[in-house]
Amino acid sequence: MLREGVGKGGKHLYPVMPYTAYTLLNDKDSLAIKSYLFTLTPRTIKAPENKLSFPFSQRWSLVFWNWLNNENKRFVPAEDKSAEWNRGAYLTEALGHCSQCHTPRTITYGLSKKAYAGTVQMGWYAYNLTSDKQHGLAGWSDAQLKSYLSTGYAKGKGPASGPMAEAVEHGLRYMTPEDIGAIITYLRSIPPQASGPIAQLMPAPPSQVDTEEHARGQKLFAQACSGCHLMDGQGRQSDWAALAGAHSVSDPEAHNLIQVLLSGTSLMTEHGKVSMPSFTGAYTPDELAAVSNYVIAHFGGKLTDVSSAEFKK
Ligand code: HEC
Ligand code: HEC
Repeated sequence: MLREGVGKGGKHLYPVMPYTAYTLLNDKDSLAIKSYLFTLTPRTIKAPENKLSFPFSQRWSLVFWNWLNNENKRFVPAEDKSAEWNRGAYLTEALGHCSQCHTPRTITYGLSKKAYAGTVQMGWYAYNLTSDKQHGLAGWSDAQLKSYLSTGYAKGKGPASGPMAEAVEHGLRYMTPEDIGAIITYLRSIPPQASGPIAQLMPAPPSQVDTEEHARGQKLFAQACSGCHLMDGQGRQSDWAALAGAHSVSDPEAHNLIQVLLSGTSLMTEHGKVSMPSFTGAYTPDELAAVSNYVIAHFGGKLTDVSSAEFKK
């Protein structure tokens, strides 16, 4: 199952189960996972039915998908690289399956050659992780990356929300400092690709944001958001509520901002759970659009035109 995506009774699994990453796992680690799972209390719970439309409902077609997109081969260490780099490559590519969210996909939904250039999936932007100076991670210090991956927050870079909060909460925060360090060593070696939004800390010039719409957005931010985030975005509730410097507030298309406003987000930290509620009940689509445009101009320095349609969709 981990290598070929074939489950019980020969059933082909959909690649939302990331076996194209787990296929790289060695025998020892795959069997260690099995040993752990086999210590859990047996329970019978019926999984919900899949609701896929034609042609995606045709499982047999995955035979062709696998042929195109799953190499079914184990991780082979690079001899010209350090042990730490190889450990990082193994953790990132196999167990961490980071590319499954951060690498753009091809037309057949396989991983493209633009490794870690960043991409949008299910509304969330999984940002560029390459060593590009403006779009990627070259502007992050090792300490910032270490803090982000192991706690879901880095000073000056904002929190991890949504799917990345899940990756930290359920996986990364249990890793040893050595393994987090190895992942960082590997990420640093990914060739730069210039794509995706650029994070910046500059407010947009006052002459351009001095409008009625922004005044309305600011008022809404003061009412609805500043209690946790503070007016200057430094975060009152906790470090995880610091927005300044976050990629999400510099994305001109506001992907992740729209997602957190629609669905909320939460993360387990060593000081307990931090969370943000969904705002769709208490505020109208029009108000959410106004607050979004204000947030991106004020914290990301970009003038945007997020419309209420984004919240009605
Ligand atoms: C389930 C999808 C998913 C997986 C798996 C995932 N990420 Fe992410 N990642 C995201 C999303 C979405 C964001 C943006 C989060 C936000 O805006 O708060 C993100 C943000 C990040 C950031 C911050 C980038 C920035 O510019 O702000 C880093 C660093 C990162 N991820 C590293 C990793 C690493 C390393 C792994 C593998 C160990 C990984 N991610 C696995 C979805 C994912
Ligand atoms: C109850 C406190 C609370 C309120 C109210 C709140 N937030 Fe948040 N917000 C948080 C916390 C905590 C996080 C980080 C959670 C996580 O890491 O999963 C967050 C995350 C975010 C993020 C994602 C940052 C990133 O880079 O991942 C944005 C953007 C955001 N909030 C904007 C807003 C806006 C706009 C409002 C008002 C409409 C608002 N928040 C109201 C607590 C709050």
